[in-house]
Amino acid sequence: MKALLILGLVLLCVTVQGKVYERCELARTLKRLGMDGYRGVSLANWMCLAKWESGYDTRQTNYNPSSKSTDYGIFQINSRYWCNDGKTPRAVNACGISCSVLLKDDITQAVKCAKRVVRDPQGVRAWVAWRNRCQNKNVSQYVRGCRL
Ligand SMILES: *[C@@H]1O[C@H](CO)[C@@H](O)[C@H](O)[C@H]1NC(C)=O
Repeated sequence: MKALLILGLVLLCVTVQGKVYERCELARTLKRLGMDGYRGVSLANWMCLAKWESGYDTRQTNYNPSSKSTDYGIFQINSRYWCNDGKTPRAVNACGISCSVLLKDDITQAVKCAKRVVRDPQGVRAWVAWRNRCQNKNVSQYVRGCRL
């Protein structure tokens, strides 16, 4: 009985952690956290990237069988290079964080790590979804109508 109660509480915590951002709410949050123009990437491009990587969902995770790594959170940051999830072979953890912090509703740490990713030579091209969906596209729609 007690074990069931604890299990219930754990499941509740897992479900309430993280959230799906409303578009303009995310745009304002990214702007406040200094993402507009960071490393030459406009706010609309960051928004496009987040849209196609996670659908603005901080809880998004995706396993990559080929590298046995997992992508985490709103920017789908990968456990092979950037964070530690304790189960990825030859992991580097360049952001120096646990991957689970990338799933929180407070995206401060996710933004900090995304800034680290974009400072690498390949820059924003590190994100496949950005290359496929945002590069050389008119991305103004992702911030249209937002009070920024
Ligand atoms: C991008 O699209 C918006 C409307 O969706 C339009 O107002 C703007 O002129 C377009 N920009 C370019 C460079 O085509």
